[in-house]
Amino acid sequence: MKGILLHGGHGTRLRPLTHTGPKQLLPIANKPMSQYCVEALKEAGITDIAIVIGGIGSSKVKEYYGTGKKFGLNFTYIEQDYPRGISHAISLCQNFVGNDKFVVFLGDNILRGGIKKYANEFDKSNADASILLCEVDDPSQFGIVEIQNGVIKKIVEKPKNPPSNLAVIGIYFLNSTIFDVIPKLKPSWRNELEITDALELLLEEKREVIVNTVTENWKDTGTPDDIIHANQFILETMVPFFLGEKEDDVLIDGKIMVGKNTVIKSGSKIFGPVILGENCIIESNSQIGPNVSIGNNSKIANCKIKNSIIMSDCVIDCTVSINNSIIALNSKIIANEKDDEKVFLLGEGTKIVF
Ligand code: G1P
Repeated sequence: MKGILLHGGHGTRLRPLTHTGPKQLLPIANKPMSQYCVEALKEAGITDIAIVIGGIGSSKVKEYYGTGKKFGLNFTYIEQDYPRGISHAISLCQNFVGNDKFVVFLGDNILRGGIKKYANEFDKSNADASILLCEVDDPSQFGIVEIQNGVIKKIVEKPKNPPSNLAVIGIYFLNSTIFDVIPKLKPSWRNELEITDALELLLEEKREVIVNTVTENWKDTGTPDDIIHANQFILETMVPFFLGEKEDDVLIDGKIMVGKNTVIKSGSKIFGPVILGENCIIESNSQIGPNVSIGNNSKIANCKIKNSIIMSDCVIDCTVSINNSIIALNSKIIANEKDDEKVFLLGEGTKIVF
């Protein structure tokens, strides 16, 4: 089986975070979110992966993933000139997949527990497609299936009147039959060739589509709040480690992951789950957690931070409480005022002084 990782798009709902790079490289628990997809593909035994790039910061994707050698994988880059839809992106990969079965993974979807069992099931089957479903609270935001007596009747993209709350998640197991239906698609209202329309055509042509439901293990990361939830979701599954230093009189409660050369100074409190990268300084009087990721080379002083992502090379020295925030690379918040809780969504290189 081969893999296709979709890594394009404009990430408009995540601006300003996506002004300087693709959303799929935003870190969750200090790792680009698309790397969880790459690792899931690898775990399923898939080593040849096409990465479809396009839009802002495509060069950053190539720079980060390279040839794939450092991951023990082979990457092929395929450029999509404009976000013309998932089916369009798949059609660009026809020569890459040839007659192999393949899995398409949207680089902003995270599935705890991986894809191995679904990949094996599809590999052994005669089905033309296999999709994964998850119950959602806001079905008008997803591709939705209508199921009657255990059989899929219909698949619709972002319906105004959803026939169910079962969303099709962004991991699709396919064979080359999909290349016969994609040319028959018409662009949708959002001017994209939808994957849901291609799957609906497979159903209309009486092709077999396998369905599995994943429960509580899937996160799509369309909005900043989704990313903050995904961060918590991944932190909960991590195995603790401590490679840094801790002075006396530090309170640690719960699970923490601490990188090399990070120093936690006396008087600070950490409530897990929390991950601290390498070379960080957590000054006295800081309170961090729960559900916080702090990237490499960042310095935190005087503040309380919970449910937040602070990326690398940041300085946060302020007396405020930071909650539900995402603070991108190389940003600074310096403040002396005592203040209530604050929420920040800061793009790369932001400086706030008050
Ligand atoms: C895409 C698909 C949709 C699916 C979703 C899962 O939506 O079109 O069917 O439910 O991914 O993340 P988009 O992210 O393009 O809005």
